[in-house]
Amino acid sequence: MIFEQFRAGGCLSYLIGCEQQCVAILVDPEVSLVDRYLASVGRHGLQLRYLLDTHTHADHFSASHTLSRKLDLPVIMHRKSPTPFVQIQVDDGESIIVGDLRLKVLYTPGHTADSICLQLEDRVLTGDTLLIGSTGRTDLPTGDPAQLYDSLFNTLLKLPPATRVYPAHDYHAQEHSTLAYELANNPRLQVKDREAFIAQMNNLNMKAPTHLTEALRINCSGGDSIDQLIAEAADRISFMSIDEVYRRVSGGDDSLLVLDVRERDAFEKSHIPGATHIPRGQLELRVDGALPDPTQRILVYCEQGKISTLATAMMRRIGYGRAVALDGGFQQWRLAGYPVEKGSPPSAATPAGEGN
Ligand SMILES: [Fe+2]
Repeated sequence: MIFEQFRAGGCLSYLIGCEQQCVAILVDPEVSLVDRYLASVGRHGLQLRYLLDTHTHADHFSASHTLSRKLDLPVIMHRKSPTPFVQIQVDDGESIIVGDLRLKVLYTPGHTADSICLQLEDRVLTGDTLLIGSTGRTDLPTGDPAQLYDSLFNTLLKLPPATRVYPAHDYHAQEHSTLAYELANNPRLQVKDREAFIAQMNNLNMKAPTHLTEALRINCSGGDSIDQLIAEAADRISFMSIDEVYRRVSGGDDSLLVLDVRERDAFEKSHIPGATHIPRGQLELRVDGALPDPTQRILVYCEQGKISTLATAMMRRIGYGRAVALDGGFQQWRLAGYPVEKGSPPSAATPAGEGN
């Protein structure tokens, strides 16, 4: 068996492959690791057959839908998953066949209503049902501490004690554990009974995960994250460094039009000397009037470098083939100590009555 664990911050994902049949499944993939997964699949000489999420994640951005679209592969989740792009729904006691491997599905609700664990050979992928030294929380949407108690004590912990535990999250650089170790040492499992466990889970008072809303939006809809949008836009354009822009602006290079796409008040406070101003929100509507030459070399900038990346990709798409984004944002320009100008944009760049 090929078994590779990947880490993105506290998120763990797994590539599991059958060496004999050269096929594989990817479990709990995370968007920032897509290229690494594909490189690993290639390095092992595997064909990826399935993508699987152990549950609807509220705290990491699943790459299942992205990879499903890219590679035309089915996504597997429990039948209670609200996600519309799941092609293979599974339930307790069923197995997923990956070449000569059998991954047995254990339905373990509690962290979420659609949580599953996967048992294979000497190990179990526990999702967020059981973590090393902890458990999944139960205070997020569809969480239920009573269900988690049953899933842990009546399902997962009934497996052989030597079973290795591979969770979906770990924040302490630990790779795996065993059920025996967790039973003996995991603080959340040291309770006397069901009621005590429920009380313990209800009194954790944890902070909501960062990006909770965005993660649920993406993972439940199959939509893209904002970081994905920006990364895709960055793949389609080129960039110019702050030093290079300064060299050209200070050298009087009038072949480069510098375009500020921030809001007007930010522009008025300070901007790159000689910059033209069109706020990002008005760009599509005003671009033909303000920038009539699509062959002009245009340097686009914003405050942080994200909006300008999106704006530059849009401009390239509509025909401004020499639009280029500032590598960084105006905040870095200021930090570098390069000169700035204050004041309103020239009236020609913001004609009254336009942009509505
Ligand atoms: Fe989770």
